Amino acid sequence: MAITQEEIYAAIDLDLSWSEKDLPERERTKHVHRLHPYLGKYVPQLVEELFRRHVPAGGRVLDPFAGSGTTLVQALESGLDSAGVDVAAFNCLLIGVKTGRHDLALVERDVHDALRRFEAGEGEAREETPYIRTWFAPQAREELLRFRALAAEYASADVLRVVLSRAARSARRTTHFDLDFPREPCTEPYWCFKHRRECRPVERAGHFLRRYALDTLDRLRSFDAVRSGREAVVLHGDAREIELPGPFDAVVTSPPYPGLIDYHEQHRYAYELLSLDDRRELELGAAAAGTSRASLAAYTEGIAAALANAAVACADGAPVLIVVNDRRELYPQILERAGLVLEHRLRRHVNRRTGRRAGEYFEDVLVTRRA
Ligand SMILES: C[S@@+](CC[C@H](N)C(=O)[O-])C[C@H]1O[C@@H](n2cnc3c(N)ncnc32)[C@H](O)[C@@H]1O
Repeated sequence: MAITQEEIYAAIDLDLSWSEKDLPERERTKHVHRLHPYLGKYVPQLVEELFRRHVPAGGRVLDPFAGSGTTLVQALESGLDSAGVDVAAFNCLLIGVKTGRHDLALVERDVHDALRRFEAGEGEAREETPYIRTWFAPQAREELLRFRALAAEYASADVLRVVLSRAARSARRTTHFDLDFPREPCTEPYWCFKHRRECRPVERAGHFLRRYALDTLDRLRSFDAVRSGREAVVLHGDAREIELPGPFDAVVTSPPYPGLIDYHEQHRYAYELLSLDDRRELELGAAAAGTSRASLAAYTEGIAAALANAAVACADGAPVLIVVNDRRELYPQILERAGLVLEHRLRRHVNRRTGRRAGEYFEDVLVTRRA
């Protein structure tokens, strides 16, 4: 029987359901959480509250689907050790930069020096690929390729690579309203739904490189002021089979949804520019795989295998917390296959804000444990 709107509201955990006023965007995207756009992350305040309720002080947490690293960043802020796995190399690069213990004076010197040399026209623009020729205007690609060559020369190369990727994302030949998954390059002026006027595709990348380089320094500094000295380990691999450095006191994770997002493809520009290892065939729930019966069966089996692998790396009795919107009702089967028992289901009302994705949206936190 379908559940009514009233029943949904009745079951909502209000302490996990923030309004825009309680939790404005600048809080949700504070310090390194906004180091680079990433579609499909959860809010750090949810993770913080789950840690507070379920993880012993000073404990170790695992996120087998670490994504942009929200769990690991929050763990550092909450004084916990953590490990995170992701199959997408770009995500691991990003998490490494967010959680790394940087010598900030050195990073600052490197970033300013790279920018100075970039402005002076240094750096060789080499190795254009068909993707780079298609998706960037001539000036933008020359600037991105020069910055890439310079970035490689510094100890802070990974920080500069993340700046490069963020600038490349903004400098693609696409419309302002289709930055997540543009299909075709846009080379002519177009009517922009976002700005309600005619806009032109971007032709340069230098201004983005400068702006994001300085923003990155600011964000690394603000995070440095609030992080603890705990450890965050980033593991690049398939969560179904990777060897995990347990024991952990809890798992906190949000697995990919079936058929919704292609996590490699959303950062395609980064894979192309940074020659990252593309393992998209191992991605669970990829949009490209669709939602046929066979795809959903493979998804169910894959997520169950990853959760089982995570659960056996946990201490006895440790909670496995899974943030989902299980509208296809796959989780009863996933949990059973993973050997997990559902103890509790917390429902939260996600306050959706942005115009084009507006609407009511609910998320559950499944509080489970190994059987
Ligand atoms: C919903 S996102 C996690 C987002 C994360 N909670 C955050 O706030 O950034 C799911 C992640 O699972 C990763 N993933 C998909 N298949 C995987 C696999 N087989 N092993 C490890 N990670 C995988 C994707 O690359 C994606 O980053």
